[in-house]
This record gives sequence, C-alpha cells and structure tokens, in this order.
Amino acid sequence: MTKSLDDSLSFFKDKVSDCIKSQKSISVTTHIDCDGLTSGSIITKALIRAGAKCTLRTSKEFSKNVAESFKTDSRDFHIVTDLGGGFGHEMNQNLGEDWIILDHHQIPEAEMDNPNVINAWKYGMDGGVEICAGGMAYLAANALDERNSDLSSIAVVSALGDRQDQGERKSFTGKNFEIAETAKNLGLVEIDLDLLLVGRETRPLPDALAFTSQPFIEGLTWNRDVCLSVLNSSGIQLKEGGRWRVPAELNEDEKRMVIESITKFTSGKNATEIMSELIGYTYTFPREDKRSFLRDGREFSTMLNSCGRISRSGVGMAVCMGDRNKILREGETILTDYRKMIREYMNILSNERWRISESETCVMVNGEDIVPETMTGTISSLIAGSPKNSGKIVILRTKAEENTIKFSSRKSFGCKSEINLSDLMRAGAEKFDGVGGGHDAAAGAKITKDKLDDFLNYLEVNVVNVSSTSSTQ
Ligand code: C5P
Repeated sequence: MTKSLDDSLSFFKDKVSDCIKSQKSISVTTHIDCDGLTSGSIITKALIRAGAKCTLRTSKEFSKNVAESFKTDSRDFHIVTDLGGGFGHEMNQNLGEDWIILDHHQIPEAEMDNPNVINAWKYGMDGGVEICAGGMAYLAANALDERNSDLSSIAVVSALGDRQDQGERKSFTGKNFEIAETAKNLGLVEIDLDLLLVGRETRPLPDALAFTSQPFIEGLTWNRDVCLSVLNSSGIQLKEGGRWRVPAELNEDEKRMVIESITKFTSGKNATEIMSELIGYTYTFPREDKRSFLRDGREFSTMLNSCGRISRSGVGMAVCMGDRNKILREGETILTDYRKMIREYMNILSNERWRISESETCVMVNGEDIVPETMTGTISSLIAGSPKNSGKIVILRTKAEENTIKFSSRKSFGCKSEINLSDLMRAGAEKFDGVGGGHDAAAGAKITKDKLDDFLNYLEVNVVNVSSTSSTQ
C-alpha cells in the first residue's frame, strides 16, 4: 500500500534521526541541473543544521553503474534527489533499507509501493508542474525541522529552473504555489506581474532584451545592437539622467511598446500569443544585494543550470547554501561563459541547415560534434522556445560518453500532441537497451551508438509520422 505524503515524510524523518543518533554518515547524490543542485543543497543544509555527518555529490544521471557505486561507498545511508526513478530494485539489492529517493519524475508502476521512493506522483501531485525535486526536498527538510521553512526561497528557484511556472501568466500551481507563498510570507521573495526580461532590476534595457532567450527570437536574442535600435525606434526613453533604465522601471505603456516592437521580429502561427508570454510573474529576492543578479529568481536558476552543465556544480551548490562574495563572482563568470556557449551552439545549428529535419509535428535536430552531452536539455528547450517551432515536438540528439547517443525532447509552446515524452523516451530506450524517462513535456534518453538507426526509426514511427494523437508502438 502506498503511504500518504505525511507518512512518507515522517518515515524520512525517522530514518535521518536514526542516522544522526547512531552517528551514521549520510551521502546525498543529486542531479547536475538547477533542480538537482537546489534539491541537493536544501536537503544537505537541513542535514547539517540537524547535526548529521553528510556529504553531497552530483551525478549526470541515474544508471546501473550509479546504483552499483553505492554498494562500495563507505557512507552508511544514501539520499538521492532529482535523479529519476527506475532503480528501486537495484537500490534495495545494494543497500537494503539504507536509502531514500526524493524525486518528481514519472516512475514505473513497480516503484509506486516502495516506501523508500518518495516521489511526487505517488501522492497525487503532478511532478511535471506542481512540484519538483527542490520542492520535495523542501518538504522533507521541513519535516525534519519547521525552522527549515527559510529554504522555501531556494525551492522557488528550483521550480523556476525546472520550468514549472506553467500556470496562467507563468504562475505556480499546486505545492509550488504553496511553497512560494510561504517564502513570500516570510519576506524572502516578492512576487510581481511584470515583463519577463532577464535582469529585471539590474540590466540596461537593451541588454535585458538581448539576454532574454525565452522566447528565442532569431535576430534579436543575444544581439544587443539590434535590440538597442529596436528600442530606440520604439520611442521608449532608455536613459534617465545619463543612467540606463532597467526593465523594472518601465510603466505599463512602455511595457506594451516593448512587446509590440519585438512582435515585428517574430514569425509563426502563435507569434502574438507567444509574445504575450513575455508578461508573467517575477520572483525577486529582496535580501540579495541590490546589484546582484541573484535578486531575479529566473536568473538565479539559469546560473545554477549553467554551473551543472559546465561541470561547476560545486559553485552552484555553495551559492544555494548561502555562500556569496568570491563564489558568487565565480557563478557570474560561469553564467557569462555559459551564455556565450549556447549562443555559439545555436548559431551553428541555425547555419548548418542539414542538421535539422522538420515535419508537421516534429523538429529533429542533429547536434553531434557541436552540442556537449550536458547541454542538450538547455539547447532543446531553446529550440522549443522559438516561435517558429511552436506547436511541435523538438528532439535533439548528440554524441555522449562511451559510444552513446543522448536524446533530449521537448514539447514547444502550443504543442497539442498527446504523446507523453516520458513514455516515448522510456519505452524507446528500453526497446534498444538504453535508459530514458522524464516528464510529459520534457524527457531524455540515452542509447548506444549501434542502436541509433533503430531508435531513429522508432521516433519516425511514433512521433514524426504521427498526426495529433498516438500511442507508442
Ligand atoms: O536531458 P533533458 O534535459 O532533456 O531531460 C529532460 C527531463 O527528463 C529531465 O527532467 C531529466 O531529468 C529527465 N530524464 C530522465 N531520464 C533520462 C533522461 C532524462 O528522467 N534517462
């Protein structure tokens, strides 16, 4: 029988309390993306506060090897966050009862009754939009001690980084909404409805527009000069007393003018709707320094995503756990480098047209030798965020370690396909001896190179040639 969420959280508390009492060491293993770094940090911070002996490490994915590695690990108890499911059986075999998974990815039926798997879907929460691993870790931290409610602000960052702001005007729903309210009531976050330009309080308008890549607008995104001339011709006053104005200073009319001038740059059937997506809820952390990019929840989350993707997870986790000054400057440099890299990859992908094949329902992108394995998720999200791909499924592939191919799939804005990408990737990967999974609208898979043609055929049958409804064959 599946336990209730409260029962599972007290089960978690009992396990951790037992470790602390008997001086057992705990290892936390988490994923490298924003949700991974935040969830790992939240739980580790709570463990440190509770007096536990613990260590924190990251992993690119869950695999048989990772599950196997716990067997020889010297730590006594293992907490895994944000790494998905599918390895409950191996964990039981390797560790007996000495482990817990906190997660939000869809899991196979066989894991629903495993008490050590504390996964959103088991408790009627949609792990794709209502809560992410950061939220699950926050609930667990709060179960350990209610004073951990201050970690709610980091859980807000995790939900933003995982693109769970899918309610009206990019609001939160479900547990994410409750967690954000907690943070707001504690004075940790301010929530406003505003233009969603990157660097709302910190960047000059042309920079803010150029740095905004959701939606990704070819010609405008990352092109500061063009942004400047577009804004100039819109008639908006860009400077005040010699100082550049920042997005947060625009009045309602000026915000509308910004949107109107950008809309001229977009094509595709949903252009106007997509542009209206540029107005949404913003999450500002008032306790961060006035000039710090960390004040903007979305930019905070991008920095964390960038840390993991370029193998600098430690910097991101240190920031989540409260480190500032030098570490923060490192985070800022990482963010700048990361933006440079994605800009370069996107340029190559759009110039080398042979890499892209499009059908009515799908855009297949070959990122081999260009996109590093760890950046597939970022790039597929950007391609899916481009108005010209609206309504379609985007599938990007690239070469990965040990002769494997990594796939990353996304449903773009307005995509009505009934294909569940998590099922698609999991079933396809299993068919060809790989691993896959994720969420309805964002999922990934990894297969060995020799199975590439078979996997592409599988996608051809199940996505490319499918009109609007389907079941996986
Ligand atoms: O790698 P990518 O960002 O495309 O993955 C999309 C989502 O699918 C992520 O939440 C990731 O954790 C999940 N995923 C998974 N199992 C895999 C690959 C990806 O659960 N084998």
